[in-house]
Amino acid sequence: MKIVECKVNHLKEALGYHMKHTVFSWKVENAQGVKQKMARICISLTPDMNAICFDTGESETSDSLGTTIGMKLRPRTRYYWTVWVRTDVGEEAISEVQWFETAKMEEPWEAKWISCDRGEKRHPIVFRDIAITKKIRCARLYICGLGLYEAYLGEKRISQEYLTPYCNDYNEWLQYQTYDVTELLEQESQLSVLLGNGWYGGRLNYYSTPDSPACYEDAWKLIAELRIEYEDGSEEVIGTDNSWKVRRSSIYFSNIYDGEKEDTTFPELPLENAIIIEAPEAKLMERLSTPVTIHEKLPVQEVIHTPAGETVLDLGQNMTGTFQLRVKIPKGQKVYLQFGEILQNGNFYRENLRTALAEYTWISDGKETVLQPHFTFYGYRYVKVAGIPKIHREDFTGLCLYSDIPDTGHMITGHAMVNQLISNVRWGQKDNYLDVPTDCPQRDERLGWTGDAQVFMATACFQSDCYAFMRKYLYDMEVEQKISDGMVPNVIPIAGTDDGCACVWGDATCIIPWTLYEFYGDASILEEHYDSMKAWVEYIRGIDGENHGWRRHFHFGDWLALDHPNPAGGTQTAGGTDEGFIADVYYLYSTRILRKTAKLLEQDDDAWEYAALEEQILYGILQEYFSPEGRCCIDTQTAHLLNLRFGLSNQEKAKEALLAKLRYADGKLQTGFVGTPFLCNVLSEIGESKKAYRLLLNEEYPGWLYEVKLGATTVWERWNSVMEDGSVSSTGMNSLNHYAYGSILEWMWRHAAGIAPDVKCPGFRKAHITPKLSEKLGFLDAVLPTAAGTYESHWKFLGKDEVELQFVIPFGCTAEITLPYAPPYLYEQKENRLFAQVKNGICIVKAGTYQVRYTLSESLTQLYTVESPMQEIMADPDARFVVERLFPRAAELMHRENGQSLKESARNFPDVFTAEAMDRLNKEFNALM
Ligand code: BGC
Repeated sequence: MKIVECKVNHLKEALGYHMKHTVFSWKVENAQGVKQKMARICISLTPDMNAICFDTGESETSDSLGTTIGMKLRPRTRYYWTVWVRTDVGEEAISEVQWFETAKMEEPWEAKWISCDRGEKRHPIVFRDIAITKKIRCARLYICGLGLYEAYLGEKRISQEYLTPYCNDYNEWLQYQTYDVTELLEQESQLSVLLGNGWYGGRLNYYSTPDSPACYEDAWKLIAELRIEYEDGSEEVIGTDNSWKVRRSSIYFSNIYDGEKEDTTFPELPLENAIIIEAPEAKLMERLSTPVTIHEKLPVQEVIHTPAGETVLDLGQNMTGTFQLRVKIPKGQKVYLQFGEILQNGNFYRENLRTALAEYTWISDGKETVLQPHFTFYGYRYVKVAGIPKIHREDFTGLCLYSDIPDTGHMITGHAMVNQLISNVRWGQKDNYLDVPTDCPQRDERLGWTGDAQVFMATACFQSDCYAFMRKYLYDMEVEQKISDGMVPNVIPIAGTDDGCACVWGDATCIIPWTLYEFYGDASILEEHYDSMKAWVEYIRGIDGENHGWRRHFHFGDWLALDHPNPAGGTQTAGGTDEGFIADVYYLYSTRILRKTAKLLEQDDDAWEYAALEEQILYGILQEYFSPEGRCCIDTQTAHLLNLRFGLSNQEKAKEALLAKLRYADGKLQTGFVGTPFLCNVLSEIGESKKAYRLLLNEEYPGWLYEVKLGATTVWERWNSVMEDGSVSSTGMNSLNHYAYGSILEWMWRHAAGIAPDVKCPGFRKAHITPKLSEKLGFLDAVLPTAAGTYESHWKFLGKDEVELQFVIPFGCTAEITLPYAPPYLYEQKENRLFAQVKNGICIVKAGTYQVRYTLSESLTQLYTVESPMQEIMADPDARFVVERLFPRAAELMHRENGQSLKESARNFPDVFTAEAMDRLNKEFNALM
């Protein structure tokens, strides 16, 4: 038995993080037993664990998903800890010694904020020499530089992090990072910090243009405190002050949207003295951001010489990040790069980036150099290169930049296009989780749109461990809500947008923490965010007043849905579902989450209060939007989905209405940001997984595989971002790297793989395993490392209707497994462990591996062909719809004799039912599966 993944606040070896709570978690592997009986956490001030400062004792209640320790932490202290576990069969193990270290906490800074002349555009390098005369025991650097900073000791970068100190509402709080510089300091004697503009000192948001001023402040600022402990027990503190000097780099322009410019022929300028300035008003706080580092290094797949005469590099993958480019060109010559997501007519294209220039300029000093920008990033697959006479593939490497978030769930199927879709969704997350969960990484936006983050949350939780990453975003949200009376701005951090709020988007403040709790089982996020959740519900209540004011507030609606035609052509962005209805349903949803959270946190008065509010909201919804018999008066796919997802009214009517709506859309989706995440999930929950698969596997517009068919390597913003002929549909708002519709992966996990958390035992302590099969996928292998341990679900078709399934349930967990189309005799096979405890067709199991093979009780292969009896076809509403749509005179066929096949019935209409028509029918029947 082994104890692994020991974390504090969901971080391994957390150095210098803000710690409102101190939550310990771990996992047990390779145990004989099935669950933990006892655990004990010991914390020591020394790595030999001899200076114990906290001991939980052997405890039955220490939870491996999150045990909060009420120990008062000291600033700048490294704590060592172990966890010991005994299982139900008495085996024991102790973890290796772990550590975490606090930063300055409430300790005052000895360093001063310093700055330099902003009139000179060349970015400053603020530095100071350090003379080390004694043996160092340890050294730490505490630092924050604005807009962005890169710190060096000698020529060496102090850390592998990029774009520090990350993206916040800089008017409210600033993050400082802590680095262990013990080793570097022994070798190097100059500490220098290069400053850039970033989100703080550059232009930002969709109102800005390349000429716009800094989003927060046109200034360079730095605070740094180097604390050295010597072997002899003495301590030295070197803080920023006016003894620091400034030299100018050759970078003369940088910002997030437009790129970076450097001229290495610039002459050296005289040194300047750093100036002490007043500390910013924003609170300087320990970091919450997880590190942004370089991940994949993508080679060039092809050097393209386009019809327009350009040289374009293709990385084969739409990504977010920077690059390295090796160059040797004569002094004074300029390299000019531009970045884009797609080619048009074989030529470089970047119109969909709107005002973002996304470029890079470098003027050579004649030496061979490897270029790499410091203070920008691009969302790109293609790079247009000018100024390099002959470029080779090996000269350029794409560097993917995103937040360090451990990958978790991996899934593969027997369907190449579905696998590509899975890959696209994963890339979509990586590309948009760069410190802030953004809408897109390429155009003049790249902002923390709350709605997008909320819609994708469950998917992100399946494929990664994003608790720590999201904690920072939720803190950003808390900060903005505090200054806005509980309102959740559409964009977090607000980044100068100030556009108010809307339903679905603002509801992120309730949905995100609840989803994190559901997936990771650590309620500390709910405690931290409770006041913000409550403030949001109260904010809506204030607007709603006595007269449903929230319905009339501005809302985005079912954003980008296809069911609201625009008389001028195309569709209207708000979609066809009444916005007031969506607003009310999400008001109900947030209130419901708040009530559950209040109950969990033992805020009993609140729990009662919000239960009553919930009832009142539901009453209002039923009064306004439903017939007395419970039919939803808003007849859209999304409205019926909301009815089913939230159990608003008559569920049978809702189901019928949804299926009818789907049928009349030829089985295709019409949903936008609101309906899409629920679409396939709801279909599976009402027993219509075949229809969910039909939606998934549809290769025509609109659908997920339509994008894959057109060569997408990430998920698009619009269902028709690119038209069938490869042309970009519009330029106003059209990114090829928006993850919202990637939420289909949530369905793949919950239903295709069939692994879903049980909210009563959060963190996957208990799971519901209900795989839904499709012969078109052939097989599916899913491995899901959850907070509680690693689940597996595998299924494959061995032959027609014969399947084999295998599940792994981890230590400490239980599962309820529902086998798809299982013949009843199966449950009598008592020798199979899976069937030891079966209740109403559900197998209740503990940790272990389970396997079963059987013939499906109902065939999943094609139901109808033109050889099927006509009467059977016409009795099935979906099949009948296919026949009637393709052949309006089909009803006449009904008068044929009983038992005749469609083909036989059609014999009298040879001009209509041609061989080609028969093929088309077979194809459409096939798609119904
Ligand atoms: C963003 C979206 C966002 C939306 C608000 C867009 O510009 O890219 O994804 O949610 O605005 O409707």
